[in-house]
Amino acid sequence: MTPPRVGADADPEPLHHPPRDEDIFVKALAARRHHRAAPVVLMLLALLLTGGVYAVLAPSSATADTASTANDVEEGERLFQANCATCHGPDAEGTSEAPSLVGVGAAAVDFQVSTGRMPMQANGPQALQKPRQMDEEQTAQLAAYVASLGPGPEIPTDEMVDAEAGDASNGALIFRTNCAMCHNAVGAGGALSEGKFAPALYDVSERNIYQAMATGPQSMPVFNDATITPDEKRDVIAYLVEQRDGSAGGLSLGSLGPVSEGLWAWVVGLGLMIGAAVWIGAKSS
Ligand code: HEC
Ligand code: HEC
Repeated sequence: MTPPRVGADADPEPLHHPPRDEDIFVKALAARRHHRAAPVVLMLLALLLTGGVYAVLAPSSATADTASTANDVEEGERLFQANCATCHGPDAEGTSEAPSLVGVGAAAVDFQVSTGRMPMQANGPQALQKPRQMDEEQTAQLAAYVASLGPGPEIPTDEMVDAEAGDASNGALIFRTNCAMCHNAVGAGGALSEGKFAPALYDVSERNIYQAMATGPQSMPVFNDATITPDEKRDVIAYLVEQRDGSAGGLSLGSLGPVSEGLWAWVVGLGLMIGAAVWIGAKSS
């Protein structure tokens, strides 16, 4: 133990440390507590807090959604009578002109109407794409009406058609076995019999690719969820979207497959060989 130092102050001078930050803050608060604006600020804070808590905890308005669907069906029926019933029949049960739509599902309607194929105008081997006549809302209403007639494939969600989430290389395999015979290996399209054709798939929206598989428009077969699962459909979408980036490299040669590739080899390859033969002949003579 050190003995108390002689001569040192018995009562040491109180330490003069500079005021700490907290002290300043507390003093400042104390000074403002009686400020005239204090109750107003407090009130605003309390209101903000209750508002925030309410927004988080309030029940979402599920009732509004169901009401709008019933509305959609009604509106859709009206649109259907005006634009589609002449061919598909007043209750969409089909006529000699056009097939029944009972059970084709919302996906078929969304596909046909959003690509402008329906309402069909000219009779031909194939209902052609046109500028769409129905806007998003009307299309949704028509789809809701047809879906109300019988269960069928539904419109896929954004997540189901998200190319980023799909596996493009698996999609390529599925596409080659199921689609390439009509649409060509990279989706460039091709002719079918009787004036029909499988269109190029470069400009088709992701949603419409999914719907085409799920509903099989015209001479295209239906690929239901047992044949190609929803995940695999997304892989196919990923593959087709990848083809558009032109990331494969090299010349596409019109993506026509062996014919244009063969022609290329014939013209350029043979040309080079003839050139070489002429050059050798010229040197030796
Ligand atoms: C001029 C006659 C005509 C009109 C108008 C018409 N359609 Fe069609 N629709 C057809 C024919 C024909 C087919 C069958 C095409 C085929 O498979 O070759 C068809 C097919 C469809 C399909 C596909 C059915 C399936 O099995 O996948 C849907 C969905 C459809 N129409 C919806 C509509 C809607 C909705 C309207 C109104 C906005 C409409 N159509 C107006 C003639 C018509
Ligand atoms: C038997 C030939 C055939 C096969 C196999 C086939 N399709 Fe099709 N596909 C067609 C025809 C024909 C159309 C055009 C239908 C129409 O115009 O209504 C079409 C249309 C489409 C469309 C819509 C194109 C557009 O411009 O709106 C997409 C997308 C599509 N097919 C994707 C596929 C995918 C993916 C596969 C494989 C899983 C596939 N198809 C398999 C014949 C085929």
